[in-house]
Amino acid sequence: DFQRLLGSGDKWGVSFTYQVQPEPKGIAEAFLLGESFIDGKPCALILGDNLFYGGGLGESLRARTSDHEGALIFCQEVQDPERYGVVEIAESGEVISIEEKPSNAKSNLAATGLYFYDSQVVAKAKSLKPSSRGELEISDLNNLYLEDGQLEAKVLQRGAVWLDTGTV
Ligand code: G1P
Repeated sequence: DFQRLLGSGDKWGVSFTYQVQPEPKGIAEAFLLGESFIDGKPCALILGDNLFYGGGLGESLRARTSDHEGALIFCQEVQDPERYGVVEIAESGEVISIEEKPSNAKSNLAATGLYFYDSQVVAKAKSLKPSSRGELEISDLNNLYLEDGQLEAKVLQRGAVWLDTGTV
């Protein structure tokens, strides 16, 4: 359906290619399925049900894409952090922890479905083990970067809109 709707992307001057995930084995499986597409380069991942909007957002994101080392994730304050990956950030701005759907959230900051990774991402994704729900968790991948001191989190600016449309 997406392919029929969006086609090659040439209407917008971009080029889309497609890769199906045959079974729901987790977000981080994207890096295994997409290995040849990524081709050893840095890449970005955005979840299909996440919408982002905001004045200047495109530009500020673009400014972060070149030569970024490690992983960069984007957070926003929410009322119900237990439904998301929860990010705890120190006053210094350093990430302290990231936990997937914890019952006791350590902060109100949800990890949004937008991620930038450097060229290590495929190798790191290959070392992941499925979680108890049988998925390669994106939070586990981010934790590998955190353990290496290479996870940066940016809180989306006021005025930036993030919608997780997975839940009506
Ligand atoms: C996924 C991620 C979670 C993230 C959320 C954002 O959750 O696992 O860390 O906060 O997307 O939408 P899911 O929507 O698969 O439950």
